[in-house]
Amino acid sequence: MEFIDLKRQYQRMKGEIDQALASVVKSGRFILGEPVRRLEEELAGFVGVPEAIGVSSGTDGLLLSLMALDVRPGEEIITTPFTFIATAEVISLLGARVVFADIDPQTYNLDPAAVEEVVRARRARGKLRGIIAVSLFGQCADLDALTEVAEEAGLFLIEDACQSLGATYKGRPSGGITELAVTSFFPAKPLGAYGDGGMIFCRHQGLGARLRALRVHGQRERYRHEEIGLNARLDALQAAVLLVKLKHFPQEIALRQHWAKAYDQRLAKISPVTPPFIAPGNTSVFAQYSIRVPERDALARYLKERGIPTAIHYPVPLHLQPAFASLGYRQGDFPVAEAVSQEILSLPFHPYLTQEEIELVAGAIEDFFALGT
Ligand SMILES: Cc1ncc(COP(=O)(O)O)c(C=O)c1O
Repeated sequence: MEFIDLKRQYQRMKGEIDQALASVVKSGRFILGEPVRRLEEELAGFVGVPEAIGVSSGTDGLLLSLMALDVRPGEEIITTPFTFIATAEVISLLGARVVFADIDPQTYNLDPAAVEEVVRARRARGKLRGIIAVSLFGQCADLDALTEVAEEAGLFLIEDACQSLGATYKGRPSGGITELAVTSFFPAKPLGAYGDGGMIFCRHQGLGARLRALRVHGQRERYRHEEIGLNARLDALQAAVLLVKLKHFPQEIALRQHWAKAYDQRLAKISPVTPPFIAPGNTSVFAQYSIRVPERDALARYLKERGIPTAIHYPVPLHLQPAFASLGYRQGDFPVAEAVSQEILSLPFHPYLTQEEIELVAGAIEDFFALGT
């Protein structure tokens, strides 16, 4: 059994994908080009923003967004400690300071009340610039509440939508709610490429052209560089694959939600297991199907022995990572993130699961807890 079975997906779309790849190879044009332009247009429509900018990864999309917002060394940006490192890494790369706030114990996303408290505590220093909210595991953060905190304090708000493309928040699509949002096409993501890729969604008037220049070395005209940028372009082969997968994406989202419900129903019978909580008004795209369980590591070992792969997103919250030691945080600073990181476990999940596989995984979890009692 695979954790995410990309081979099954390929078998279903093989004809279309092979043809799309061959047409790029035949065209001899591999950097940006027509497939990237079409993907930008289709995805801008999908999330309902005026402009989308294809980039080389979610990480680069976040970095470019902060560059376009003129984040400077010493400025402070609030984010969650319970995320993939890229979210906070890009802040540090620009010499700005990462300021963490704790998460909600049910959704695992930033807790707006905790963010508000951080803002209150640090506002007088005059260094706060913005908030990066992560929509973790496929479910949007509480973006209205965070927008309110941001607006009140004069901060920008970026949605890290790397795991949540296809989700909705109060009927609005993830990626289309904040002025800037970024998604990732890492192969394991809900909309995954065959390599790295990402997209910036831009509702912010005037930033689109700057972001386009920044992704090609700050260049607006050939060999005229207005500012220092990056090489952070999406390539044509990835865009061609993504255009095919995008056609199937609405159906895949429905399948993800179907299999999540099937897991929910089956796991409801196993009392130590806390299935994912989807907040009222949200739909999730289930980038991960992550449960919370006591004895997580022993369960993961037990499942592995039975050929069932699992993953831990994420075993160490960012404030306790060696890379962020200089920030001076300690164990106990973010108790919710710390507790969740001890108990979270992601189960095999993708649109092409079968009911037998759900039963296999849930049955093994049931056996594990039955043996323990
Ligand atoms: C929450 C989050 N932010 C940022 C990233 C970075 O995306 P990428 O791997 O495309 O650079 C990822 C994915 O890996 C992610 O899950």
